[in-house]
Amino acid sequence: MAAKKNKTSFFCTSCGYQSAKWLGKCPGCNEWDTMQEAPSETSTSNDHETPQMIAAITELGDIAVPIPISDINESEQPRHATGIGEFDRVLGGGLVTGSVVLVGGDPGIGKSTLLLQILDRLSTPQHITLYVSGEESPGQSKMRSRRMGINNQHLYFLAASGIEEIINHFRKLKPRTLVIDSIQTCHSPEIKSPPGTTSQIRQTAAHLVKIAKLTNTPIFIIGHVTKDGAIAGPKLLEHMVDTVLYFESDTQYPFRILRAVKNRFGSTNEIGVFEMTGSGLVGVDSPSSIFLNERPHNLAGSLVSATIEGSRPILTEIQALVSTAVSGGIPRRTTLGIDRNRAALMIAIMEKRLRLNFSNKDIFLNIVGGLKVIEPAIDLALIAAILSSHLDQVIPTTTLVIGEVGLTGEIRRVNMIDQRLSEALKFGFKKVIVPQGNLSSQTGGNHGLKEISTLQELAEALFS
Ligand code: TYD
Ligand code: MG
Repeated sequence: MAAKKNKTSFFCTSCGYQSAKWLGKCPGCNEWDTMQEAPSETSTSNDHETPQMIAAITELGDIAVPIPISDINESEQPRHATGIGEFDRVLGGGLVTGSVVLVGGDPGIGKSTLLLQILDRLSTPQHITLYVSGEESPGQSKMRSRRMGINNQHLYFLAASGIEEIINHFRKLKPRTLVIDSIQTCHSPEIKSPPGTTSQIRQTAAHLVKIAKLTNTPIFIIGHVTKDGAIAGPKLLEHMVDTVLYFESDTQYPFRILRAVKNRFGSTNEIGVFEMTGSGLVGVDSPSSIFLNERPHNLAGSLVSATIEGSRPILTEIQALVSTAVSGGIPRRTTLGIDRNRAALMIAIMEKRLRLNFSNKDIFLNIVGGLKVIEPAIDLALIAAILSSHLDQVIPTTTLVIGEVGLTGEIRRVNMIDQRLSEALKFGFKKVIVPQGNLSSQTGGNHGLKEISTLQELAEALFS
């Protein structure tokens, strides 16, 4: 038989979808312009593990056998709190034995720093941990740990990137928690393509998942995400792992936000807030205080709202800038931390209900501190900020606005109003504008509360 021609194929750098021909839009994840040419995977026989790999992995533990669901002992999946409160919160109360956690984020955001700190907290004589880095030498890692005051003799470091080598050391050391930094540098001998390619990432991750499940060892996999999505990566791993955490920030600020986008063992609503300091990441117990920290006083276009992230209320400053657009051009609508469509909707509602004309105005909206707010309970605050900038009228710094706005301009009630109000009172807000009928009987009697049901009433309440 003639030798197989080494065909080329295309794969999506975002989700790993494969196609024989180039496509402008990936049918897998609907992203545009993400298809890249790659040697055909069928020519590298990547879906067959080598006998050495099979032997290395099967030696790790027993292959599972079917058992009645009634006989499964739930306590076999205990949680292990890492002791870093903000991290445990995002995990849903601690690390689950045998779970695989993907930690994604831009390069330099602090993934290695966070994982080193977590391993340090977990490492005891009974709980040896292993940090595998394919990115840094032991010397570089030592410099980082010295900076963070970490000198734990039960935390082991290994500079390696070959999955076979990693498994061999894993078998000898028997660590109770493993960190792989990063999946992009990790490679498996069965695959011919270089580290970082989709087939390598998929194969090495599959091995790591097997190790976690066979040995009941939790594994953290670090994955870089680049802004332009150039590196194939975390997206295609999301379905293979138990938990996906993303580390985000607004580069202007030292704050980092850890968010769960998938969690088989907890909710995906909770966020963890950290501050990058000179000696590593420090959890922020009271995020409201940092998000309000550098608030300007008596400037038009700024005000505060109370949002809910998971189970916790967080006060955030919202800023708007309304300026004259270049004549004849399309007016700009730029948002940071706020959904663009939601902002466009609020602007349209203002035009219709308050009879304002923004067709020759550029509008910029921003949530200060790098937080991303998706809940509609900030609608009213967006409108208030835009109104304040447009009229160039200052909203008193002790005023806070909460409320959702419907398409017809009606002010709608929000959930968890008591938690939002108590956070507002804690931070000394004197006037809180809330939707009519939203208050429970216990909070209703408070003098600082102003109930409104229309946008006209909002305008009056804001500037009076
Ligand atoms: P790092 O954890 O290496 O990021 P990642 O692994 O996500 O690429 O963090 C790198 C940045 O954090 C770097 O700019 C230096 C800074 N940093 C501090 O500010 N304080 C510290 O204690 C450490 C260890 C790093
Ligand atoms: Mg790193």
